[in-house]
Amino acid sequence: MTVLHGAFVVLRPTIAEDILALAAIRATPEVRARWRGEDDLAADIAADLQDPDIHALTVHYRQRAVGMIQWYSEEDPDYRHAGIDLFLDPTLHGNGLGTDAVRTLACHLIDDHGYHRLVIDPAADNTAAIHCYAKVGFQPVGIMRQYERGLDGTWHDGLLMELLAAELMR
Ligand SMILES: CC(C)(COP(=O)(O)OP(=O)(O)OC[C@H]1O[C@@H](n2cnc3c(N)ncnc32)[C@H](O)[C@@H]1OP(=O)(O)O)[C@@H](O)C(=O)NCCC(=O)NCCS
Repeated sequence: MTVLHGAFVVLRPTIAEDILALAAIRATPEVRARWRGEDDLAADIAADLQDPDIHALTVHYRQRAVGMIQWYSEEDPDYRHAGIDLFLDPTLHGNGLGTDAVRTLACHLIDDHGYHRLVIDPAADNTAAIHCYAKVGFQPVGIMRQYERGLDGTWHDGLLMELLAAELMR
């Protein structure tokens, strides 16, 4: 089992025992606004855990599950790259844990899996996320117009950000 140690957080593959804690975090307004989800968030997370294309890691901080970070990949050799997404308990936002989690996973994807390019796609108005990813070295590529449907049912812009291996701020 791959366990990744950051400066503050520990990332462990998500297991069934994590689901209730993660569903409670997904249910907070701050996270639901960005991750959406159906009424049964525990079922959503359980379904994601069955998806072979998603690699989910639970973010642990001080022995507690405080969020999830996941990655997926494009394995066509001519376009090979990986993408990241995450959420954290809102009571802990703004303390550097997101930056630590993204940096730790980015190191793993580059060093252990050999990806030369990573992407991440926050909503264009998600200033905290964009700032967090920039601190790891992600650079804005451009706005993806009407990229994702928000909780209100309307289409919102996304910001595509990318990081090349040499740009990772370790
Ligand atoms: C995005 C998220 C993972 C970031 O985690 P975090 O632990 O809060 O991030 P960090 O503390 O490492 O970094 C956030 C930075 O944004 C800054 N920030 C927060 N709100 C901000 C705002 N409205 N405008 C500008 N900067 C802001 C913080 O001050 C911090 O920067 P600093 O360290 O230079 O002070 C977390 O906020 C989260 O889970 N949000 C809800 C779900 C979500 O949006 N997921 C991302 C989907 S792409």
